[in-house]
Amino acid sequence: MIQTLNKHVKWRKDNGAIFICDCKRLIDLKVQLKYKEFMVRLERGVKKKELTEENKLVFKDFEKMNFLSELKIKPLNKKDFPKAMEILDNELGKERVRSNDFLYDKFKKYPSFFIGLFLGKDLVGVICGFTRDNYLLMSEIAIDTRFQKRSFGKRLVKAFEQAVKDKFTQINAGAYDSAINFYKSLDYEPFLLIQFKKGDYSPKNFSKFKVIGSSPTSIEMEVKSCDIKHLQLLREKYPKAHFQYIFKKTL
Ligand SMILES: CC(C)(COP(=O)(O)OP(=O)(O)OC[C@H]1O[C@@H](n2cnc3c(N)ncnc32)[C@H](O)[C@@H]1OP(=O)(O)O)[C@@H](O)C(=O)NCCC(=O)NCCS
Repeated sequence: MIQTLNKHVKWRKDNGAIFICDCKRLIDLKVQLKYKEFMVRLERGVKKKELTEENKLVFKDFEKMNFLSELKIKPLNKKDFPKAMEILDNELGKERVRSNDFLYDKFKKYPSFFIGLFLGKDLVGVICGFTRDNYLLMSEIAIDTRFQKRSFGKRLVKAFEQAVKDKFTQINAGAYDSAINFYKSLDYEPFLLIQFKKGDYSPKNFSKFKVIGSSPTSIEMEVKSCDIKHLQLLREKYPKAHFQYIFKKTL
């Protein structure tokens, strides 16, 4: 069982000590600074049996004080679906490209590729996927803002990879510019996808690039690394085209 701080518990380093607060029950606790590394690990989720004896003592105190919740990753149920869509709405906002109805159809078809991350009973993160010609598209991923940067996104991607690895050898994910470092940290390799409408541009406009795939309305371009400045220059030069880094991983 993986456990972590529950949704009401926050901590901070201050004045040479660590202050932990259950913001709902207004309970405070102070522990020595030497437990900082343990707090960082705990915030990301730990297994009690893997802790040192010293850390286990603090952990047991936290258990008694109800500071902890179980962190569970499992396929979504039908009843979780509306909450999952709410998380996508909140975190992906206007940039979200696929509708709830579209995703619900995919969910019915590929339920094992729709996975949730639960903190206690609460769904706080979701990843969705469905098949494309010869790969699996990791179509959406989002973690509730309040719980980001705790490795939960990373855990979801790993669970997704496990769920699909017997059926697919390649996963692709289109990255928001803000999520580029996230995919890089997971060892996904980028290429650049350029999409345009017929009449606005044609593949000829992009023939000087190192093209690795093309259709009448899109180009896939090889890149050595991700470069946001270069992306912005391309967007200025071809304002009617859509540029996005796609990250892929061979399983
Ligand atoms: C992108 C997202 C899913 C990442 O989830 P997360 O739980 O916050 O990320 P993690 O804590 O698992 O981060 C894993 C690694 O990614 C990197 N990373 C994550 N978010 C980052 C950010 N905003 N900037 C830079 N690096 C980031 C870190 O290097 C981190 O490495 P570490 O574990 O060594 O610290 C989450 O931030 C999110 O929901 N964002 C809004 C929705 C979104 O953009 N979805 C992706 C659309 S393509």
